[in-house]
Amino acid sequence: MDFKLTEEQLMIQKAAREFAKQQCLPGVIERDEHQKFPKEQLEQLADLGFLGMMASTENGGAGMDTLSYVIAMEEISKVDASVSVAMSVNNSLVCWGIEHYGTEEQKKKYLIPLAQGKKDGALFIGAFLLSEPEAGSDATHQHTSALDKGDHYLLNGVKNWITNGSTASVYLVMAQTDASKGPKGINAFIIEKNTPGITVGAKENKLGIRGSDTHSVSFTDVKVPKENRIGADGFGFTFAMKTLNGGRIGIAAQALGIASGAYELALAYSKQRKSFGKPIHEHQAIQFKLAEMATKIQSARLLCYHAAWEKDQGLDYTNSAAMAKLHASDTAMWVATEAVQVHGGYGFVKEYHVERLMRDAKITQIYEGTSEIQKMVIGRNITK
Ligand code: CAA
Repeated sequence: MDFKLTEEQLMIQKAAREFAKQQCLPGVIERDEHQKFPKEQLEQLADLGFLGMMASTENGGAGMDTLSYVIAMEEISKVDASVSVAMSVNNSLVCWGIEHYGTEEQKKKYLIPLAQGKKDGALFIGAFLLSEPEAGSDATHQHTSALDKGDHYLLNGVKNWITNGSTASVYLVMAQTDASKGPKGINAFIIEKNTPGITVGAKENKLGIRGSDTHSVSFTDVKVPKENRIGADGFGFTFAMKTLNGGRIGIAAQALGIASGAYELALAYSKQRKSFGKPIHEHQAIQFKLAEMATKIQSARLLCYHAAWEKDQGLDYTNSAAMAKLHASDTAMWVATEAVQVHGGYGFVKEYHVERLMRDAKITQIYEGTSEIQKMVIGRNITK
């Protein structure tokens, strides 16, 4: 077992850390307050090759491994989880899904610009549309219909909580073609956002990741060419699940980053803040908190790295991805809350960043499968 990062992984870590410090930190409080989408930061990520990190170079990507992606996600999420969620959805749901299950034509037309993150000089990213008002955790019960009309499908329905909902140029949409077949009657489609019949709802006013672009998207008699279906008829639910397995590694890495960011702030503050005549980290009450934070973070990091390693080895990573997400998201919530506590009253105000990290942490226990869903996935895997 070798825990040492390669030269290339260390370079990616350095580049991501510098990007987070130089490009994400300035203005992060204002973007959070005004719910401003970090478009400039996403454009810079495209230039760095971070929007298609794992896509092959022939498909416009950077051809890196999953561990490099985890490392970059951790660094960026330490500072701005609104940037990293947009990056994560494009990398591990959209690009990965098309590269692994799309046709050569679909890859040429959609994956190349998505992996490059730009088309004709403008930001070009995707979104993943599975959740619906009545199908969140219970994702097999899709109400959005995709009726087979011969040379095209006709889509009707509503999707919600869609990350990159208004900014994305391309949607990956799951919809029910034959309800009598249950999950085996679901299809996945690549749909251009400017297709007639698509309406994007208002931006959600959220607790955390407030810069992230979260919308509902409605489909009214939207015609989708047959060649835009991903995989064989009825493959859509399996496509969504297999793609989400990798997505969960991305969100686990985001949670890891939120936890590490909050911990680093708490550690620095504990060295500078004095009470009862000494820096507060010399008080055992604070030192125990810091020790527990560091230990939980390291265990979350090892789970993330292990899941990424399994994916890169071509092993089944369903279980390890679920474990990484479950543990890293709980760690993010706990560490960020404790980081606020270490800061005392200062932790409760925006200038010290930890209150934002605490708010951002919460979503990692919810999206791409709630903690309860991860336990269900793990439970089914270990008892089968
Ligand atoms: N990997 C591979 N296949 C999977 C799978 C997984 N993790 N989970 C389920 N499947 C397969 C099953 O094996 C089954 O296939 P077979 O019939 O061929 O065996 C099929 O999918 C149906 O699964 P189940 O019979 O287990 O169905 P279920 O209803 O009992 O459970 C579920 C399904 C696991 C709860 C699933 O609905 C689920 O994961 N729900 C959570 C959905 C989710 O994560 N949503 C996130 C939204 S996207 C998002 O948040 C992106 C964003 O913007 C940030």
